[in-house]
Amino acid sequence: MSSAESTWSPGSWRDKPAVQQPDWPDEAALEAVLKQMRTMPPLVFAGEARALTESLGHVANGEAFLLQAGDCAESFEAFSADAIRDKLKVILQMAVVLTYSSGVPTVKVGRIAGQFAKPRSSPTETVGDLVLPSFRGHMVNDVAPTEAARVPDPNRLLSAYHQSSSTLNLLRAFTKGGYADLARVHTWNQEFVASSNEGQRYEQLASEIDRALRFMKACGINTTSLPTLHEVDFFTSHEALVLGYEEAMTRRDSLTGDWYDCSAHMIWIGERTRDLDGAHVEFFSGVNNPVGCKVGPTATADEVLGLCERLNPDRIPGRLTLITRMGADKIEAGLPPLLAAVRDAGHPVVWACDPMHGNTFTANGGHKTRRFDDILAEIAGFFAAHDAEGTWPGGVHVELTGDDVTECLGGAEEILDTDLASRYETMCDPRLNGRQSVDLAFAVSELLRR
Ligand code: PEP
Ligand code: CO
Repeated sequence: MSSAESTWSPGSWRDKPAVQQPDWPDEAALEAVLKQMRTMPPLVFAGEARALTESLGHVANGEAFLLQAGDCAESFEAFSADAIRDKLKVILQMAVVLTYSSGVPTVKVGRIAGQFAKPRSSPTETVGDLVLPSFRGHMVNDVAPTEAARVPDPNRLLSAYHQSSSTLNLLRAFTKGGYADLARVHTWNQEFVASSNEGQRYEQLASEIDRALRFMKACGINTTSLPTLHEVDFFTSHEALVLGYEEAMTRRDSLTGDWYDCSAHMIWIGERTRDLDGAHVEFFSGVNNPVGCKVGPTATADEVLGLCERLNPDRIPGRLTLITRMGADKIEAGLPPLLAAVRDAGHPVVWACDPMHGNTFTANGGHKTRRFDDILAEIAGFFAAHDAEGTWPGGVHVELTGDDVTECLGGAEEILDTDLASRYETMCDPRLNGRQSVDLAFAVSELLRR
């Protein structure tokens, strides 16, 4: 699709510098796994990826809002039907809050069913007296603080594929098989959320939806025959970091002849791998999925325009989502020049706000955390910047879990640094818990309504 079309292939990234790749100890073992992966069924179909591009096209045009949410890093251990269901529940709750309160359709994309690889700021980590290779996500190595656990194991690529496959299977069942039916809007509220102020506010909104559905029925509208009330379109996404895995999952679509990375509907490039001359941008330039790219506080307008040209030369609305992660204190000055440059160049992008990764710090006691207030402040700054430039604040990208964890500080329940240790369960970055997530959705819907 790009001007480099003639030279692109699923493996052409291999001629470019590829940063953040695992140091696989045994090339032959890696090759054997990748060979096997190339024969395995795709996890998603090209038509689904095109449907997501179309939906994101509505976001790019200012007619819809993107909610992209899920784990920082999915885990091979914390893998259960309940965990998948609870994550889906809180995302459905947030989407209902956003859609009902703002009247804008919400495009739902999970950081799920493939989010197993992590970029790291440092290749090593010091635990006690040990200097160990960093944990790089369960697709690569294990989090346990031993030398042996940190050795990259290519068999983990296969495990990641299989876990993605069964996660996606359950998500499809839940979202198309009745669980996501709007008539069940009350049942998505978990007990620990329902007992809080945010949960009560959600209950009230759910009752209003019930009343609206009864009203439609009373007017003679056959609500049982409307699939849009009973099913939800839910898409998957992850950071496509380990390029060998992504290449092996890349297939040519039999309908169009175009290439798609069939490991997820949407994939994104991280802040550490968005070099214009690097391997990740090369790989992403040739697959036809909707793609995202993180944009941090050091990104220049020229770099961002370069990404637009490389990743979306045909200017297809919905193809490219720019996910800004500036930090609450940097967004108001840093974002407007980028918005103006992209707007003036006529590039149709989705702008999404990741209010998590620019606001991380280590609290007393050593836990990596974020303040709920900083997260809200970055989102408010994101909306203010878009208001100033006349562009559409297209969505939010957040790390959350359906569980009652204590990983982010503050929120209505006022989690303090002394509380962090009580239920700190993430393998990587701190996530919003169910209450904080619903609270955030109400705050965003108020910004959207304005
Ligand atoms: C992430 O999304 O978990 C992440 C590592 O983000 P970034 O690339 O923006 O640092
Ligand atoms: Co993260």
